[in-house]
Amino acid sequence: MRRIDIFDTTLRDGEQSAGINLNTAEKMEIARQLERFGATVIEAGFPASSPGDFEAVQRIANTVKNSTVTGLARAMKSDIDTSWEALKGGEQPHLHVFLATSPIHMDYKLKKTPDQVVDIAVEAVKYAKKYFPLVQWSAEDAFRSDPEFLVRIINQVIKAGATTINIPDTVGYATPQEYGALFKFLKENVIGIDRVKLSAHCHNDLGMAVANSIAAIENGADQVEGTINGIGERAGNAALEEIAVALHIRKDIYGFETNINLQEIKRTSQLVSQLTGVVIQPNKAVVGKNAFAHESGIHQDGMLKNRETYEIITPELIGETTAPLALGKHSGRHAFKDRAITMGFELNDQQLNEAFAEFKKLADRKKEITEDDLFVLFTGKQIESADASIYELTNVQVQYGTSNVPTATVAADVPSGENVVVATTGAGSVEAIFNALELLVKGHVNILDYRVTSIGKGRDALGEAVVNLRFNGETYTGRDISQDVLEASAKAYLNAINRKLVKDQALLKVKEMVGQ
Ligand code: KIV
Ligand code: ZN
Repeated sequence: MRRIDIFDTTLRDGEQSAGINLNTAEKMEIARQLERFGATVIEAGFPASSPGDFEAVQRIANTVKNSTVTGLARAMKSDIDTSWEALKGGEQPHLHVFLATSPIHMDYKLKKTPDQVVDIAVEAVKYAKKYFPLVQWSAEDAFRSDPEFLVRIINQVIKAGATTINIPDTVGYATPQEYGALFKFLKENVIGIDRVKLSAHCHNDLGMAVANSIAAIENGADQVEGTINGIGERAGNAALEEIAVALHIRKDIYGFETNINLQEIKRTSQLVSQLTGVVIQPNKAVVGKNAFAHESGIHQDGMLKNRETYEIITPELIGETTAPLALGKHSGRHAFKDRAITMGFELNDQQLNEAFAEFKKLADRKKEITEDDLFVLFTGKQIESADASIYELTNVQVQYGTSNVPTATVAADVPSGENVVVATTGAGSVEAIFNALELLVKGHVNILDYRVTSIGKGRDALGEAVVNLRFNGETYTGRDISQDVLEASAKAYLNAINRKLVKDQALLKVKEMVGQ
């Protein structure tokens, strides 16, 4: 069986999508999980794009050992130098350098002739090879490029030392047949194509990213790129869990294998959704919450007689176990610790003690603590608290009546060290809370998106709030989980504000260091 490499770009192309902003601790947690998931390559970020990205890529490169860690760079020396500083501690330093090759990108974006583009690409690859043993070169918007021009430029970058050639469908325009044909054409016409890894990178604008990726594999691609849950710019990237499961379930016709540990799919998907705040659509293939639900009587009857009547993938395959007994307020520390270990968390004594104290508080208010609740609790503890609480909510109170004007009073510890209390009204309870918090943070805040979802089932389920807002000209997403959705909403709002302020402080430090 031919082995297909899986290149994960959740932390780069995925993180690039609207409203997602992960801090370093969260990126580290996702990277560690991607390593367990079995990604061959993890694209940890774009080191030259910001000090935050640089730091995250560097920490991931220095930590992850079983996957190759890469970072994205434009075809320019300064980006390559910065990327080397971030990636040099990795097991196998790998760089991903890109340049657009389609007429529309060359004319309007780059304002370069095709000859100039070839020269820039070759120079960049040669320069990168001075540092990196592994260099992936991507022809941005390859699918809309002239295939003859692609052959010409790829011949040159291979000669310059590229070890992987990536052919992105940057705008998700291809059909499976066309995308597959492009790979076949390149396999037949590029000199030395068999000496390098050939890679596919598909966007999902027409909903064909997974099908296109598989068509590329059938026509010679050695690697496919994508993200967990298919997150990414616009309609997102190819969903890696779908590709891995499709290749596994239909190996009878494809005959390809990957290194993906299918049992880690559920957990990886849950973690990415929790930390990015991007909710998984319920009917999403493989990881949607209804992916294994059988609603109609006829289907349920069939399932009881023989599961294979309606089930082609088992929940167990992707690591969704039949939930073990829920824990409750009488559960002891020992059972709690055992559960953390069975669920694959590695908490130190202090983290475990803190998690247990929170568990006990929660168990006083909630009858059963489910696997989903524990996942959220353990994940929160495992991520070292990088979200400094610059503003910390100490109280929220709302007065609401169908014929009254909703009024919110919020109290929070503010940067000066004082505890400030503000009260104001709004058209609804949440608006009143957000209006009060806006007075507290003294800036202009625009709410771009706001969502509340429940973790697990039942009337006492925990509520998760995600707030995407614009504060003093920049967009941030905050999230929080609480038993009360109003409290979760207020905390998620302050979490977004705190993320912006933490980033401002980090930038200020960098400026001081370089003497600006
Ligand atoms: O979609 C794209 O073209 C990309 C490149 C940077 C590889 O993400
Ligand atoms: Zn992309």
